[in-house]
Parts: sequence; C-alpha cells; structure tokens
Amino acid sequence: MNSAALARLREMEARARWGGGAERVERQHARGKYTARERLDLLLDPGTFQELDAFGSQDGDELLGDSVVTGYGQIAGRPVYVFSQDFTVLGGSVGAIHGRKICKVMDLAMASGAPLIGLNDSGGARIQEGVDALAAYGEIFYRNTIASGVIPQISVILGPCAGGAVYSPAITDFVFMVHGTSHMFITGPEVIRAVTRKEVSFEGLGGAQIHSQASGVAHFACADEGTALAEVRRLLGFLPGNNADDPPRQQPTDRPDRLAAELEELVPEAPDQAYDMRQVLQAVLDDGEFMEVQAGFAPNLLVGFARLDGYPVGIVAQQPDVLAGVLDIDASDKGARFIRFCDCFNVPLVTLADTPGFLPGVEQEHGGIIRHGAKMIFAYAEATVPKVAVITRKAYGGAYIVMSSKHLRGDINLAWPGAEIAVMGPEAAVNVLHKKRLAAGDADALRGELIAEYRERFANPYTAAARGYLDAVIPPRETRPRLITALKVLRGKRSSLPMKKHSNIPL
Ligand code: HXC
Repeated sequence: MNSAALARLREMEARARWGGGAERVERQHARGKYTARERLDLLLDPGTFQELDAFGSQDGDELLGDSVVTGYGQIAGRPVYVFSQDFTVLGGSVGAIHGRKICKVMDLAMASGAPLIGLNDSGGARIQEGVDALAAYGEIFYRNTIASGVIPQISVILGPCAGGAVYSPAITDFVFMVHGTSHMFITGPEVIRAVTRKEVSFEGLGGAQIHSQASGVAHFACADEGTALAEVRRLLGFLPGNNADDPPRQQPTDRPDRLAAELEELVPEAPDQAYDMRQVLQAVLDDGEFMEVQAGFAPNLLVGFARLDGYPVGIVAQQPDVLAGVLDIDASDKGARFIRFCDCFNVPLVTLADTPGFLPGVEQEHGGIIRHGAKMIFAYAEATVPKVAVITRKAYGGAYIVMSSKHLRGDINLAWPGAEIAVMGPEAAVNVLHKKRLAAGDADALRGELIAEYRERFANPYTAAARGYLDAVIPPRETRPRLITALKVLRGKRSSLPMKKHSNIPL
C-alpha cells in the first residue's frame, strides 16, 4: 500500500469527522445536546456503526460529509439504518447532498428489510440551495411514504425541526422528542408574531410537552437525549425488522399460568366509580412491563407495547380513571393509528374494554367525532393480526362494537363476570323506554327500580355469551393465562383482505 494514499485517506477521514469544528461542538454541548456522532454512539451497539458517504460533498466543497452522518449498525444485535443530522455544519440544513445521503440509507433499509432511525437536528431546507433543497425533502417524503408499513421508521427530534421538514417525521411511525431542546413547527414564533401578533416561545409553540399532550404529534417526550435514545432501543425490542418478519420473542421470566387474584378486587362495585386500568395491565403482562405510546395524549385510552409469554403484543385499553374511559376524537385517532401500526408489523392486538361509549358534546360533534370515531372501527375491522379482547366492565353502544368485537372479526372475545353489554347505559335507556311513566309518578324511586331491572336484564355478559358474541366469561384472575393460550392458538392465524389498491380510511 502506498503510504501517501493511506495518509490521504486518514486526512480526509479526519476532515469528515471535524464537522462544524470545536467551537460549534462546544455550543452544541452547552445547550445540553450531543453531536451527531455522539448520538449514534449512544443509540447503536458499541462498535457496530459503519458510515456511508463520509466524503459526500458538493463539487469543490471543503465540507466533507455535508451536514448529516449516515450509515448502518446494530441494536441488540439486529441491523438498523440511521441518519444523524449535524447541526454544527450549516445548522444541519438539508441540501442536495444531505438529501441524497439520507435517501441512500432509506433505499438500503427498504431493500434489506431493516428499520430506519432518523436523528433530526436541522434548520430545515438549506436556503442557499433553493429548489434543490426542496427537491431533497420531496425525495425523502416519498420514500417515507413508500416505506410505511414495510419497515418501522422512527424519528428522534433533537433540535429544531421546522417548516416542511416536520413532515418527514410526521409520516414515520414514532416520533421522540426531548424536553427543552427539540422543537417542531410549521412556522416559527417570529412568523407567528408577524402574522397574528401573538407572542409564543419555541417551547410553548412546538416543544415536547405540547406535541406529546396537546397535538399528539410526538409519541414519546423524554427528559434528555440519552433517555430518548435508550427508549428507541427499547421500542425496537418489540418490533420486527420488516412487515414479513414476526416480532422478536424474548425468553420470558414470568410464568404463563400465573394467576392474578388481586384483579377480582380491582373493579369497584359501584358502576360509576373509576379504577386504574394500568393496574390490570401490570397484573396481566409479563413482569408488568408496559411501554406506553402517546401516554400524555388522550389519556382516556392507553396504547402501547408489552409481552405475553415473551411474545410482543400491542395493547389497546380504556382508562376508566380518565373521563370514565370515553372514546373521543383524540382517543380515536390515537387508537386507530396504533392498531394500524400493529397490523402492519404482525404485532397481535390485545384489547381491554371498559367504556361508556363515545363522548357526547357539541364540540365533539362539530369536531368530527363521526369521522374520527370511524377510524377506530375501520382499523379494527381491517386488522388481520390475532385480535383478543377482554371486556372488564362497560361496553355500551357503538363502543361495544368498536373495541375489537366479534363483529369486527375479533378472534377470541372474553369478558369478566361484571361486564355490562347493552345498547346504552341504564340511566339513558330508562329515560328513553319509560319517559311517560317517569313523568307521571314518583320519578326518583321509580327510576331506581327501573335501572335495577334494566341492569339485571341487559347489563351483563350472558346475553352476548348466549349468542356466541363472547367466547367465554372468565374470572378476572385467569386473564393472563387465558390471553396467553388464546394468542398461542392464534399464532398460525391466516387472514387476508379482498384484492384492492388500498382502502379508503376516513382521515
Ligand atoms: C442555511 C442555515 C439554515 C438554513 C440555520 N442555518 N438554518 N443555513 N439554511 N435553513 C445556519 C445559520 O445561518 C448558522 O450559520 C447556523 O446554521 C446555526 O444557526 P443559528 O441561527 O446560529 O442557530 P440557532 O440560534 O440555534 O437557531 C436555529 C434556528 C435558526 C432556529 C433553526 O437558524 C432558524 O430559524 N433557521 C431558519 C429556519 C427555517 O426557517 N428554515 C426553513 C424552513 S422551511 P453560521 O454560519 O452563522 O453558524 C423548510 C422548507 C422545507 O424547511 C420544505 C419541505 C417541503
């Protein structure tokens, strides 16, 4: 080997690693942010990162590698493709080379059926590159869309993500943000001030709290970058590399036949009293572990990943502790998207239902609860993964149908003995059925009597069980073993939809 050639390689490598230089790196650290390469070190298994296009640059450009580091590596021994935008170089802005580097790893991820993880920290389209910068984004958006449902795509926002740049993360499956340092918005505080005369801070406009609680754009809001990257690793542990693979099983440490007697005391006698569905999850899931997705958004519905006998499952469960577990616009959007993700990637769905129904209200109606609620029905009906459901208490009206019912092709449908399944809740039903009698006599005493009668007759699981709409009514303590055996027999499930270009889910 010609030693001069080797020396030139070493010199070019050093230039590529230089990024924006020591001063800008220091500025990055002072803000509580890691550099693009430090982040990859934290994300990937040690020593597994292989860089691609380290010398990518515009003709005659001194900046080697442009403002993004790309390549592949491993997480828990499984391959992933990554890009990590380098804010120290031209603010991590996206130009033609930057875009081409990202597109190359996206194409490789698709070709090899491995997840794509994007670490975003960028000022957006590189202003001086004009339409070439816009073209680069367009190419990325196109690939994000085509890869959707083929490989898991994860976006981690670790700095600014502004303007049209937000739409790449928005198309991907999961968005992580970090409190205080990551911001997503279409137009920034200055434009908003000029157009609307409203003052708003970066954090107040598009910080992690806003997007994880109010807008629902972010699925995870983390205290710092290290936590966010560790959570990405944890999430991938539940997911297959692509839609043709099964999710990876982990050797369980929790017994599959473990009973949970405490569940029999959990649901209060009084039907309107709340309880915490998280306690049910804790008792039922392997080691009580639940990786909740969108925990702060529409908390009346819980969604997330867990394992049963070591096999990953997707959980969709009402939270009676928040708004009695009603289905509203945000819960419907949250649930439907999660169900569709699980269905794309062969993650069986476990549903725990306890809901009085869709939320009544002018705001909900005018906000389009009809359109949004329809998404939940659509997502459950279309999902072909194993679907197992347990009604823990209330399943009234449309919500009975929505929550993975037999009629939407739930595979195994169970209920606890206290389950109440009817067209509507007793109070509302009595008001409709006995309007005249209630108007005439001693309304309060009569209402109590009629409600008790209705409850006895309709608000129980046995009519549904008699019709075969429920497969079994089970003691709560048996929930875990029953779910595990149901999922075991369903492991070979084959189900397909009629040939079509694609469905037309109400959006
Ligand atoms: C070129 C950019 C840039 C950009 C930042 N820089 N954004 N260069 N194109 N879009 C450069 C800065 O000039 C600066 O260079 C360095 O990056 C760091 O930026 P600072 O402003 O010093 O950093 P900071 O104070 O942290 O502010 C970061 C920022 C701000 C909030 C991101 O830079 C900013 O507002 N940038 C513009 C954001 C934006 O409007 N982008 C376009 C969105 S529209 P020097 O050399 O001084 O260090 C869009 C369209 C996409 O993206 C369309 C897709 C459909």
